[in-house]
Amino acid sequence: MENIVISKDASTLAKRVAHDLTEAARLAASAQRRFCLALSGGTTPRLLYQHLASPQLINEVPWDHLEFFWGDERCVPPDAAESNYRMTREAMLNHVPVKPEQIHRIQGEQSPAVESSRYAAEILKTVPTPRDGLPRFDWVLLGMGNDGHTASLFPDQDLAHANDLCGVAQHPKTGQLRVSFSYELLNAASHVAFLVTGASKAEMLATIIGRVPGRERYPAARVSPRVGTITWYLDHEAGTEISKKL
Ligand code: 6PG
Repeated sequence: MENIVISKDASTLAKRVAHDLTEAARLAASAQRRFCLALSGGTTPRLLYQHLASPQLINEVPWDHLEFFWGDERCVPPDAAESNYRMTREAMLNHVPVKPEQIHRIQGEQSPAVESSRYAAEILKTVPTPRDGLPRFDWVLLGMGNDGHTASLFPDQDLAHANDLCGVAQHPKTGQLRVSFSYELLNAASHVAFLVTGASKAEMLATIIGRVPGRERYPAARVSPRVGTITWYLDHEAGTEISKKL
């Protein structure tokens, strides 16, 4: 089941996602469950992370019940400017009450093939796994590139050194190596939340959400949780083409 939420601008969108995420985490906490969250990288989620750590929300989030993972990471050290982990630390983790053991970063400084296996083992150790399936994240946050990539799953590219959960990707333009969740792991999630903003993504969104034939070549179109749900959180600019079809 797919939901589409269109907010008037990126800040309003971040507040809506923060509200929905906090609600879901509180529900898990009230049932004494850990809430396993896979974070997205890039630039879009920064506002969301800042809002979660803001005075308005910081006391609403059940921080002690959260387990933080990343859906992908650039193969760079954790203090590198391009590190998704560094962005998340600066925007949120440095400002909220979480313990080091709740933070499960992809070690971008390690050999990608070795880290892909190590990370898969860390996920298996921490995230509940149904008998017949793969580890089931409560929420997976994802972004989308103009080319339809998501996490570090790129068009016309299979993950290398892949196991069921993770693998090694290479950015098609920069050649930068990445460690990324696999489609199988993404599609085992209870809920996937795409956060997409900006006019430059409107056309690709219309192709992917609008069920245009041939959309399957785009990785974001191949995210379809088997038993979970998807919400597309868009700002007005990114949603212009979709709005015409609704
Ligand atoms: C990454 C992300 C990637 C990102 C999209 C959108 O490591 O870069 O995981 O999939 O979500 O490229 O990036 P922006 O949010 O910067 O547009």
